[in-house]
Amino acid sequence: MSTPPNSKCTIYMTTVLILSCMKFVLATNFYRDFDILWGNGRGNILNNGKVLMLSLDEYSGSGIQSKRAYLYSRIDVQIKLVSGNSAGTVAAFYAGSEGDNRDEIDIEFLGNVTGEPYTVHTNIYTKGKGDREQQFQLWFDPTTSFHNYTITWNPSMIAILVDGTPIRVFKNMESSGVPYINELPMKVYASLWNGDQWATRGGAIKTNWTEAPFITWLRNYKARGCVWMNGQSACNSRSSKAINHDWYKQRELDLKGNELLKLVKRRHMVYDYCNDFNRFPHGVPQECHLNTPI
Ligand SMILES: *[C@@H]1O[C@H](CO)[C@@H](O)[C@H](O)[C@H]1NC(C)=O
Repeated sequence: MSTPPNSKCTIYMTTVLILSCMKFVLATNFYRDFDILWGNGRGNILNNGKVLMLSLDEYSGSGIQSKRAYLYSRIDVQIKLVSGNSAGTVAAFYAGSEGDNRDEIDIEFLGNVTGEPYTVHTNIYTKGKGDREQQFQLWFDPTTSFHNYTITWNPSMIAILVDGTPIRVFKNMESSGVPYINELPMKVYASLWNGDQWATRGGAIKTNWTEAPFITWLRNYKARGCVWMNGQSACNSRSSKAINHDWYKQRELDLKGNELLKLVKRRHMVYDYCNDFNRFPHGVPQECHLNTPI
């Protein structure tokens, strides 16, 4: 006997409902959220999808790409970086769009020789325009335990946070002619690669391959965002849940956030393109004047 069409429909509907509810309660699942993009077996999802291991040896690194794209999101992940002599290794966590006028929000962790600090390299591309590097050193050792790294972007501002502390903010200054990320959807990426041509002060120190494979761990990935569907952001719909969230509504840092950002800039920033007068002899980019914390 075949199942009557109606009950098939009920089963189907119930499954869809359960699945769409589960989206909000399910823990991290790298299987569900990501594809392994490259690395030929060097990127591995473990513990039923809860943990991602990226590895790097002298032949290749590895990387993943999110299945979904977002126009506006908050993404969080916990990372434990390569320990010991990590000089030359670069672990990256970033969001980026495709094509020529790409948008990108980058966090890159540049390894160092044993006992010396990592550099956190950040950059923001808006409609193809980058050259906005800022670098920081962390106030903890990022190799001994997991720490939380966050990227948020909404119609008003972009922010990068480390354990909840803002280290970088880029406001929407489109009204002053500075391009902003507000048209293209971005996917989320994580990778571990060899950057010894670049990451160690222009190649001064080479990666020590006798210590390979180098390994970086990721867990607790969360994307709370406006999924890109049918050529538009889910947040264009007024029934979208995301538009009621704090990360989406935030227009600027609150007082405490501003104090923390100023402190990070004073104590932990090691490079700021806005202060690089040799690089910009005709004046630093316009947003440098518009974008300072209050
Ligand atoms: C490595 O540590 C040295 C000494 O603290 C520092 O000057 C350098 O910028 C660090 N390199 C990287 C890539 O973080």
